[in-house]
Amino acid sequence: MNELRYVEAMRRAIALSLNSPAFDVNPRVGAVILNEAGNVMAEGWHRGVGTPHAEVDALNNLRAAGLLTPGLTAVVTLEPCNHTGTTGPCSQALIEAGIKRVVFAAFDPGKTEGGGRFALESAGVEVIGGILADEYQPVLKPWLVNKFSERPYVVVKFAASLDGRVAAADGTSKWITGEDARHDVHARRAASQAILVGTNTVEIDDPELNARKPDGSLYENQPLRVIVGERELAKSARVFASMVGVTGGQTIQLRTRNLNDVMAELWNRGIRQIFVEGGAELESALIKAELADEFLVYLAPKLIGGPKTAIGDIGVGTIGQSVNLQIVETKPLGADILIRAIQKEN
Ligand SMILES: NC(=O)c1ccc[n+]([C@@H]2O[C@H](COP(=O)([O-])OP(=O)(O)OC[C@H]3O[C@@H](n4cnc5c(N)ncnc54)[C@H](OP(=O)(O)O)[C@@H]3O)[C@@H](O)[C@H]2O)c1
Repeated sequence: MNELRYVEAMRRAIALSLNSPAFDVNPRVGAVILNEAGNVMAEGWHRGVGTPHAEVDALNNLRAAGLLTPGLTAVVTLEPCNHTGTTGPCSQALIEAGIKRVVFAAFDPGKTEGGGRFALESAGVEVIGGILADEYQPVLKPWLVNKFSERPYVVVKFAASLDGRVAAADGTSKWITGEDARHDVHARRAASQAILVGTNTVEIDDPELNARKPDGSLYENQPLRVIVGERELAKSARVFASMVGVTGGQTIQLRTRNLNDVMAELWNRGIRQIFVEGGAELESALIKAELADEFLVYLAPKLIGGPKTAIGDIGVGTIGQSVNLQIVETKPLGADILIRAIQKEN
């Protein structure tokens, strides 16, 4: 089969993986089964812990459609597992189904789950790993951080001028970006489990930190609002106002500057992903502590100049110490542009 067909099918499998639950014990995985001509015979994805893995879901769909024949190719975003957890080993299911070739993107780093490729190869299945691994990485990374660092996945967001300023010299920052960018932020808030800000941002901006639709109404799901910092804040701050008719949206203040304590506290509350909304001091501290996994940078075509840079001291003294990122998405939003980047794997 032409290798271009695997690549195309992998791109589809990555899109399918986004159907999996975002904050689950298990990773988000998608699968596509091709015949030797490269036609799609079945698709599948994982629906969360306790349900069939993506490749087994695809095999089930294949069987249900009466299309299971020997010699097919399974294209799956993650290396098939090799262990019996709440479901059986996928490598075995693929072998039993007579799959001839398995193509995957990311190697499974799990000590018990990984190694499926060896089981497949021992059974005579051709195995090709690493196809579009970079494209799948942003989907897999939150789960990797959760599983191996046992802390929430941290997304750092800021809106900046083209010269990287997040506020004017007097501290004002409303509004650097336009409406489309703000709608995008609100949609991402609604899809987040928690929003984090520093005490200074609450004092200076007095944000509500709720997730609003373009028509101004509240999204049904509201993230937990978390303020970090030792100082006492006025109870009249808008972030403490409760919301009615929504799920979530409570506000807590963690009166500490110890970011590992913040991670542990939120992890113990079941938070698996955090959306950090400023300011520069808190975000810089998170980067310096190697706790920032992903960046959402909204760039506006304006210049502000002056001292209020998006990021302050992050411990980079010389260019060789730069924090290296991989851009995974760029999106025009009205006159602005969104750049999404993740920490580059070393
Ligand atoms: N353009 C944007 O995207 C954007 C977004 C947000 C804010 N802003 C602007 O940014 C400015 C506020 O940001 P900021 O950088 O001054 O303050 P900040 O990051 O919001 O808050 C800093 C405060 O956070 C607390 N904190 C908790 N843990 C910390 C840690 N590990 N390291 C350092 N501080 C920690 C400290 O307060 P305690 O003394 O209470 O401990 C610290 O003074 C405003 O001008 C606002 O308009 C812009």
